[in-house]
Amino acid sequence: MKKILFVFTIFSLAIISCGEAKKEEVKKEVEAPVEAAKEAPVAGDDMIALGEKLFTEKTCVSCHQLDAKIVGPSIKDIVKVYDQNDASIVEFLKGDKEAIVETDPGQVAIMKANLDGFVKDLKEEELKAIAAYMKNAK
Ligand code: HEC
Repeated sequence: MKKILFVFTIFSLAIISCGEAKKEEVKKEVEAPVEAAKEAPVAGDDMIALGEKLFTEKTCVSCHQLDAKIVGPSIKDIVKVYDQNDASIVEFLKGDKEAIVETDPGQVAIMKANLDGFVKDLKEEELKAIAAYMKNAK
């Protein structure tokens, strides 16, 4: 419990220190759910709602549907592979990890273009929200 509190304190400090410039409103939106979620299988509803919004607004949905493969693998297929490998979607989105769902170079390049393009501009909280949404999508 102490450890959790410690991690949580560091985490809050990080959010506070880098969030100064942000409007109070935005902080409220992401801060509370992040505490509970941290990419846990069951995340706060707010977190999931934010993730769903981002998944649509950031065009992820145009290549990733819930059940069917279109341009990219379905959300369910992605989550299945990530669960099986105990891997982190957030780390993949941050560009820290190689693709594990589809490894065909052509496919990887399509997703990589998003990571290098606009995904790198998303905040850690936003990436966590997206991951939480994907894991809880039904
Ligand atoms: C232009 C189409 C396109 C868009 C837009 C797109 N993706 Fe992808 N995505 C792909 C393709 C193709 C793959 C398969 C290659 C791969 O697995 O890396 C993929 C794979 C993935 C994977 C699995 C990576 C792995 O380990 O193999 C995740 C997670 C993912 N996308 C999340 C997202 C999120 C979140 C967004 C929105 C921020 C997004 N994608 C937007 C095409 C897209």
